[in-house]
Amino acid sequence: MLLRLFICVVVVLSSASAAVIPLSTDIKPPYTHPWDSSLRPATDFLSLTSGIAADNTTGDEPSQIHLTIAGPNAISVNWASDKAKTGKGYLQPNDPFSTSSIVTYGLSAADLNMTATGTAQVYSQIYNTSYAYWGGNSTLNYTSPVLHTVVLPELIPDTKYYYKVGDGATFGETLSFQSLKAAGPNYPQRLLLIADWGLSHNSSSTLDHILKSAQQATSPPCVLYIADFSYADTWYPNGSVSAPNTAAEGSPNAGSYQPVWDAWQRFVQPLVGQVPMVGGTGNHEEEQEADGTMFKSVQARWPTPYRASGSPSYFFYSVDVGPSHNIFLSNYIDYTEDSQQWLWLKGDLARIDRTLTPWVTVSFHNPWYTTDTSYKEFEQMRIAMEPLVYAAGVDSFFYGHVHAYERSTPVFKYTVDPCGPVHITIGDGGNSEGISFLDNYQHPKLQFEDRNGGCPMVNASQPRPSYLLPLNPSQDPWSWYQRTLTFQADGNSTGVGNPPGYCYKEQPAWSAYRESSFGHGTLDLVNDTHALWSWHANQDSNAVARDQVYIVRNTHACPNKLGSLATAPARAPAGSSISQLMNAASSGG
Ligand SMILES: [Fe+2]
Repeated sequence: MLLRLFICVVVVLSSASAAVIPLSTDIKPPYTHPWDSSLRPATDFLSLTSGIAADNTTGDEPSQIHLTIAGPNAISVNWASDKAKTGKGYLQPNDPFSTSSIVTYGLSAADLNMTATGTAQVYSQIYNTSYAYWGGNSTLNYTSPVLHTVVLPELIPDTKYYYKVGDGATFGETLSFQSLKAAGPNYPQRLLLIADWGLSHNSSSTLDHILKSAQQATSPPCVLYIADFSYADTWYPNGSVSAPNTAAEGSPNAGSYQPVWDAWQRFVQPLVGQVPMVGGTGNHEEEQEADGTMFKSVQARWPTPYRASGSPSYFFYSVDVGPSHNIFLSNYIDYTEDSQQWLWLKGDLARIDRTLTPWVTVSFHNPWYTTDTSYKEFEQMRIAMEPLVYAAGVDSFFYGHVHAYERSTPVFKYTVDPCGPVHITIGDGGNSEGISFLDNYQHPKLQFEDRNGGCPMVNASQPRPSYLLPLNPSQDPWSWYQRTLTFQADGNSTGVGNPPGYCYKEQPAWSAYRESSFGHGTLDLVNDTHALWSWHANQDSNAVARDQVYIVRNTHACPNKLGSLATAPARAPAGSSISQLMNAASSGG
């Protein structure tokens, strides 16, 4: 009887919404959308000093205003004041203690009758002029604007708030946002998905599209950002950029030109000044300095609510948005079994109350499931964590890094499995590096691993994963390689040094749809059993969904989707202390 009811729900949903929208559990032959050269505009950069990303402030007025989630019913408001400095040698940092961080807000633009205060910080990026790669004697150091963070606590859910930010004397314009729904099975709920955004004309097109998706939401939306933010590290520290990008951007030894970050923050304000955005960290956030420090800029600019979700680290945490529990992990923090991240994930999955948040997403930057040349880049992470997330019935994964779109079937251990999660790569935000190539006849250097010659090389001189920060610096790379290697039964042996069977000969059954175009995604949670995933390509109007599927939660066929709360400890009192939330939001890890 229950099964019959479930089938009826499916039929009603399908016919009422769009007869052609398939279910994620409708397994069809793998599909690759044909390559189209018109969808491959040349890579470029937006100007940092004119146009949409320009700094139009004349004094110390606020800019770069952006919202993120600080915890349950709490929003973190972040902005910059004072000017960044770039130059050779020592730069006197701005003084974050010489100013105040104040937000006035209220339910009416004419009556901002509430006030919250917060903290401010600065950071500097110092390079080594003896390193020719960073530009030698032309290398410029950088010290940031004053970066402010104020938490607005105990907001009324699903309510429009007006706000303005400033230091008490100088305030910016009045903006607004819709507070998020409290955790609970309140439908519908829209999540916006975007990654690898950058600062190009393609990025600008994506901004136009995702703004429309936000405006068309019938619930307060939230952006899940799957990392690689500004691509400041595609610039040399002296402010020049090669064309095409030949820098080792995104690698630990890449330099960085931090004014790109400031420009990017101005560029995204039209969206994130009104819609909260939470995100992870990618390889382009590494931005290593002369002393080896990494991930400094992103932590200063984008606080994460890790303490509110019981996490010990800025880099992994979870947030509830309406009926969804959204987990962010890091490819760049130890993920091996019994590591801090692994143990936190296990505990967080166990604490999920599926009666409150039936839908569970997991996001991190580098994909587990991709047929791009990043294939198996983080295979050890998948091996360590996939059994946990499968047992907990996670519904969908979101990735970036690969600059193309790909959606999997429900899958577990490379096998189509109706009870497994759907994996979606959405790293096609439009950054200056361009899009991942699909057609090996047009672009022989980069293609999907099943195309002729596309299988990534895995040998001692180029071990996978290529972007992993060493968990044990003394570890022999070859040992890493040996531990990560797995095989495909129907594979081939293309790629120097690859063992037979490392790659597929053709698009694997779990790769449902792939296409090289820029775009973004929307996940509309419809009810406890169906979520409508839509991928919007930039060449289409927002009314068009290039790829669309109902992600299905069938708890009868898949008891893992019920979660494991019954055996878990009591839910952590996340966000019960506002001071804790404020500490979490302002410390930046
Ligand atoms: Fe990346």
